[in-house]
Amino acid sequence: MAKVLIGFMGSGKSTVARLLDKNFVDMDALLTEELGMPLVDFFASHGEAAFRKRESQLLRELLSTDQVISTGGGIVVSEVNRQLLADNDQTIFLRADFDTLYDRIAADKENQRPLFISKSKEDFNALFDSRQAWYKEVASQIIDVAGKSPQQIIEEIL
Ligand code: S3P
Repeated sequence: MAKVLIGFMGSGKSTVARLLDKNFVDMDALLTEELGMPLVDFFASHGEAAFRKRESQLLRELLSTDQVISTGGGIVVSEVNRQLLADNDQTIFLRADFDTLYDRIAADKENQRPLFISKSKEDFNALFDSRQAWYKEVASQIIDVAGKSPQQIIEEIL
């Protein structure tokens, strides 16, 4: 059974996944490779809906493996994905408050997030709010990550 990490942008999904298994699958990295361009360019040229379609296909494939999977923050937007995630035994929600995540994302110069750069802080906060119930609904475990080190988070998961 796959171990899937979910949560909003900046919640540390990839960092925690790497600590759980150095051979973890990073969905965003895999999609970037598959799409042949950075996500920010794909969003600009093909739109979010096209991205969600590819993301959904990949999720379905990966859930039949027993790997550690780091998802993109928008994985819960699709109802089909939510059903798949809810049916998976180990879907772990890394939860943090908006301000903590906003500060982390703003400080992250390496990862350009299309939905972050295209929105005002207010709209980004509304996006955050709109997803919280979905993460909670599909999670088998919820970990509050603000103020914790990756190591502490791992200990709670294991
Ligand atoms: C997205 C989050 C990103 C990436 C894409 C869309 C979102 O992943 O999948 O930019 O809709 O929340 P991270 O959560 O890894 O930043």
